[in-house]
Amino acid sequence: MMQSSLMNSATPLLHVGIIMDGSGRWATSRGLPREAGHREGMLATRRVVEAAWGMGIGTLTLFAFSAENWCRPPREVANLLKIFEEYFVSEKTVWVEQGVCLSVIGRRDRLPPSLLEAVNEAEISTAAGRALRLRIAIDFSGRDAIVRAAERLNGERPATPEIFARLLGEATDNRTPAPEVDLIIRTGGERRLSDFLLWESAYAELYFTDRMWPDFDAQELEGALREFRGRHRRFGRVPAAVAD
Ligand code: IPE
Ligand code: IPE
Ligand code: MG
Repeated sequence: MMQSSLMNSATPLLHVGIIMDGSGRWATSRGLPREAGHREGMLATRRVVEAAWGMGIGTLTLFAFSAENWCRPPREVANLLKIFEEYFVSEKTVWVEQGVCLSVIGRRDRLPPSLLEAVNEAEISTAAGRALRLRIAIDFSGRDAIVRAAERLNGERPATPEIFARLLGEATDNRTPAPEVDLIIRTGGERRLSDFLLWESAYAELYFTDRMWPDFDAQELEGALREFRGRHRRFGRVPAAVAD
């Protein structure tokens, strides 16, 4: 993979979260079944994962299926789960070559066994990857993750945001806790978080685009990162020049 001119070796690696929305509408507007949009969305996911490392992204968390998405028609849910399974099976080898380390975040107890198996295999075979940490959120709820971290808090005194962040990381991911989110991108025109990484996004920059997920590509990702790098993240402070 090539690194782009957007960054140099001193640039810290970013954690970017993407809410991959709009695949259903992409299909409907073309007179296609929603499933066709989800399939096309898988291709967009492939493009974006391939481009991410070269743009200075160290951790990429992709929202693929929310805990609320179980309420969709059973046929759509079944199609989505099948597409995820195919994706994990088809990408495993290329991830190993590219140095991607995959983990799936979210509940696992409601996933079909064949999908779980594909997830486990992909996680095990990519465990040594160091170029990009890829987290795919399936049956994920930001609030549920917080509740599960709160359960683990039991007895930890004093309770601090740092301790809580560690517990949340442990409750969310089977790897070491991920860094705070720097940038959240949402495609598909909606301007909301839909229960994605709520705690971890406390100071994330937000980037919304009307483009539907299947049309998202490396060029738009680069544009989002350029806009991100032009923003002033103040974390509650005032600019250094006026600090005294
Ligand atoms: C995002 O696309 C994928 C999932 C939520 C699974 P949608 O399926 O929500 O597409 P729209 O928003 O209906 O167009
Ligand atoms: C958010 O999309 C979840 C994913 C992209 C996986 P939704 O389409 O489910 O969100 P809402 O219902 O518009 O908030
Ligand atoms: Mg949607």
